[in-house]
Amino acid sequence: MCGIIGILGQKNVASALVDALKRLEYRGYDSAGIATLYNGEINRLRAPGKLRNLENKLADCELSGTLGIGHTRWATHGIPNEANAHPHMTDQLCLVHNGIIENFHVLREQLVSKGVTFESDTDTEVIAHLIAQELIIHKDPAEAVRHVLQKLDGAFAIAILFVGYDDLMIAARQGSPLAIGHGDEEMYVGSDAIALSPFTDKITYLEDGDWAVISRQSLTIYDKNGQSVKRNTKKSDVISYHVDKGNHRHFMSKEIHEQPEVVGHTLAHYIDFANNEIRVPDIPVDWQRLDRMVISACGTAYYAGLVAKYWFEQIAKISVDIDVASEFRYREAPLKPKGLSLFISQSGETADTLASLRYCKENSQHILSIVNVSESSIARESDTVLPTLAGPEIGVASTKAFTCQLTVLACLALSMAKLKGVLDRDQEIDMVKALVELPRLMSSILNNEHEYESLSQELSKARDVLYLGRGINFPLAMEGALKLKEISYIHAEGYPAGELKHGPIALIDENVPIIFVAPKDNLFDKTISNMQEVAARGGKIILLTDAKPDDINCELMARIGLPTAQSLINPILYAIPIQLLAYYTAVFMGTDVDQPRNLAKSVTVE
Ligand code: M6R
Repeated sequence: MCGIIGILGQKNVASALVDALKRLEYRGYDSAGIATLYNGEINRLRAPGKLRNLENKLADCELSGTLGIGHTRWATHGIPNEANAHPHMTDQLCLVHNGIIENFHVLREQLVSKGVTFESDTDTEVIAHLIAQELIIHKDPAEAVRHVLQKLDGAFAIAILFVGYDDLMIAARQGSPLAIGHGDEEMYVGSDAIALSPFTDKITYLEDGDWAVISRQSLTIYDKNGQSVKRNTKKSDVISYHVDKGNHRHFMSKEIHEQPEVVGHTLAHYIDFANNEIRVPDIPVDWQRLDRMVISACGTAYYAGLVAKYWFEQIAKISVDIDVASEFRYREAPLKPKGLSLFISQSGETADTLASLRYCKENSQHILSIVNVSESSIARESDTVLPTLAGPEIGVASTKAFTCQLTVLACLALSMAKLKGVLDRDQEIDMVKALVELPRLMSSILNNEHEYESLSQELSKARDVLYLGRGINFPLAMEGALKLKEISYIHAEGYPAGELKHGPIALIDENVPIIFVAPKDNLFDKTISNMQEVAARGGKIILLTDAKPDDINCELMARIGLPTAQSLINPILYAIPIQLLAYYTAVFMGTDVDQPRNLAKSVTVE
């Protein structure tokens, strides 16, 4: 989604704005722009496409000014051309916006009827014209912004410069995240702490409805009622991470290879290795009475929740209702007071997941979240936060965040089972020992990476790919299909293998690769039967398994051998081959692996 940066600096800020936008590239965008204020005037540069197009323009002109804003735009209203790129401006001001103004049609018509002409198709431009109109009445920028914020419906984060005010920026947040950074006689505004990390680690997060009047030496925050409020300033830990590709060609490759290490860090957070004991923080619910819980998440995080449903039900004996958050938030699910609701999110900013969380909060649930960004909105609005220690995930396709989410969820399931008295000490030791093996076994899979390259060349020729799995492997099949389609653009579907005969089998012919996620577990023989049904129809089977070739009485296109492990950790191990298959297929096809078309890393609009 769109990224925002603003700098009230001491030196010319144009190139620092572009550098900061590079740190926001991972969020996904299709055009970019910057504007600075110099000698009381606003100068703006915008370009469709990648940031290098903007950099090329900047190289050809001088953009002076120590006060500026910048933006990467992920198109919602209007195609990604220069006219729709931000910043948007009038004679009096210039602004950048992340989010959607839901009532922009009405507002635009009102403005048009007053004679205002629009340069773009965006919802954003109405905000600029509305503020310009209020400025005529109130003269004071802060007063003008305050009046306009009351008229806007939807989600937004904005940063605004005003002609003639070279020590003023106004920022506002409703729904979309916004951070304010404190420097040495400099101030910054950014969509996240990663964008601000080269400048400062002192961050103040605006809360929903807040707006801020910022100068180089001061910050005044108002809430939605116009009352001046204090918000905490924290030291961000983002600064301690190096956000670069290292020796890897893509962030996704780097992040796939980091998994043994970051899963190890996550395990260390939730396991007492010396005593083979699970160590999850207290969650204040009545465990003896709790027999049901709700999980809500989106995309890959939702598939992590689906895997966990099997763990919570089979190990902890707690029934799970799980929905994608965009459905849950409007489903009006009745919830028993004092229940437990779990939200899973890498970014901690996903709009639908956050809205589901707020629904559960209003319905007196204990809010538990598993997030990778500890300063995110979801983390801040939760009663209990279980962090994943994956470090910043830059590739749009989620990889290490997924395996870290699964690691936390496995530990949580064991902890809940203990609290409910359905896991004895011997079982706990056995399962903890299995979890501790993860980094070693993940590394051993990554050591055979070359196997995936040749197979991916075959996959890249396919128009459709099916992923099948049974039981806890079914969510992995869905995750495999999501990974492949989002970065290679090949159509892929994940199905429960037992559902094959109820429809998808009609798709099978010699041109459709079918990837079976099938460790040798209690359902393996059933899955083999499904494989035979596929083979009988000429389907090309790729089998991910630890079963030995002699156990597989079926013709295969390929067998990817995986290590034999305790069944608890199989979903975490089998995540790696599906990531590698998708990655190498995309590399072979030459797509933009880290920033695939149309996708955003942090989905802050619904
Ligand atoms: O930040 P979140 O975990 O809440 O994001 C949820 C999804 O948008 C995300 O997992 C998305 O599906 C990824 N692109 C999948 O690789």
